[in-house]
Formats: sequence, C-alpha cells, structure tokens
Amino acid sequence: MRNTKIAPSILAADFANLQRDIEMVNASQADWFHIDIMDGVFVPNISFGMPVLDAIRKHAQKTIDVHLMIVDPDRYIKVFKDLGANVLTVHYEACTHLHRTLQAIKAEGMRAGVALNPHTSVSLLEDVIQDIDLVCIMSVNPGFGGQSFIENTYDKVKKLKQLIIEKGASTIIEIDGGVTSGNAKQLVDAGADVLVAGSFVFNAQDQLGTIADLKKLTCS
Ligand code: DX5
Ligand code: ZN
Repeated sequence: MRNTKIAPSILAADFANLQRDIEMVNASQADWFHIDIMDGVFVPNISFGMPVLDAIRKHAQKTIDVHLMIVDPDRYIKVFKDLGANVLTVHYEACTHLHRTLQAIKAEGMRAGVALNPHTSVSLLEDVIQDIDLVCIMSVNPGFGGQSFIENTYDKVKKLKQLIIEKGASTIIEIDGGVTSGNAKQLVDAGADVLVAGSFVFNAQDQLGTIADLKKLTCS
C-alpha cells in the first residue's frame, strides 16, 4: 500500500482565521504543511513572509514544507531553517549554482527540494538528481492558487520517475498546482509521492473530509 503524502497549501487558508485553519490541518489526515513564499520578482505576486511563517510554526504539528518562489534563495536558507522549515525547496530557474544551494540547505539539516516551472525539462536534473531529496513539479505557473492543472504534468512525472530509478536516487516527487480528486490518482499512478492542494482543500465545505478523500484515493 502506498503512503502518498497530502500537503495542504496555506496560501489558500483564511488569513483572518489562520490558527483555526492550521488546527484543521493538524486534526486532519494531511501529512505536511505547504508554505508558499513569493517575492513579487521571481513570480508576479507577493504572498507572505517571515512573521507569518513564525506564527504558523507555533501551531503547526506536522512537517513544514517551504516552497521558495524567490530570486537568490541562498540569502535566506538559514532564516528558513530558524523559522522551522523541514523541507526547503528552491526553483531550478532561480539558482545559478544549484548544487551549491542544495548542499547549503542540507548543511542546515533540512531536506533539499528543487521546483521546476512547467517549461523546465526534468532532463536538466540528470546530473544533480542524486543530491535532491524532493523534486516539485509545478503543474501550474507559480504565483497564484486556484489555477487549472496543466495536463503535460503526467508525462513529466513519468520521465522524472524513470530518471530517479535509472540513477538509483531516493528523490521523492511532489506535485504543486491544480490538484483535485479528479487528477490525484492519475498523478500517483504516474509516480507522485506528495500532492500539494490549496484551493481544493480550503474552498471545500468539508475540509477534513476532502483531505480524507484525497488520502483514500491515493493510498490504495
Ligand atoms: C502556486 C503555489 C501553490 C498553490 C497551489 O504558485 O506554489 O502551492 O498554493 O494552489 P492550488 O492547489 O489552489 O492550485
Ligand atoms: Zn507551492
């Protein structure tokens, strides 16, 4: 039986009731908190920053998965470690010296992730896959929640899974953007290990039930 991880994206939470929404995730079958940090430069949107993450981590009782959509992420590796990040993901497109960045994340005791924009080929990771703990395949263009899922993602997941097997790496695959109960199973069948879901979870009437459904759909 698979153990697919479900990672609700806090970007879609109600920021006026953030503690309530964090407690909902704590009480749910979700595995991780997915935290989107956007700088308004790498992506055309600004989300939230350090004070908000500091508040989140005081209540969050699960793994904190931070997705940095920022330029020059090396400047903030230690800061995010101190803010409680367990997984720290940088964008391939934002790193000139990706290998060095990955080593710096690991040196701080975090798991190192690399996110790929929809146009970025998984083949570009061929020479660095063994150094990556998690690859986040963006299934929307990063910057906003609530966008539609890009269908080419399934092929990318399959290619990445093949690369991981060929290289004997232990990298896990995360999917981020437009995840719903309609595509979750197909993503896991293609090779996904972690599914991020923002609006599908937080816009639901029954948030706990929606997380439970995603878990059930993907863990059988
Ligand atoms: C997009 C973010 C996603 C986003 C997903 O740039 O990285 O994590 O919150 O939201 P949904 O699930 O609504 O597409
Ligand atoms: Zn994200």
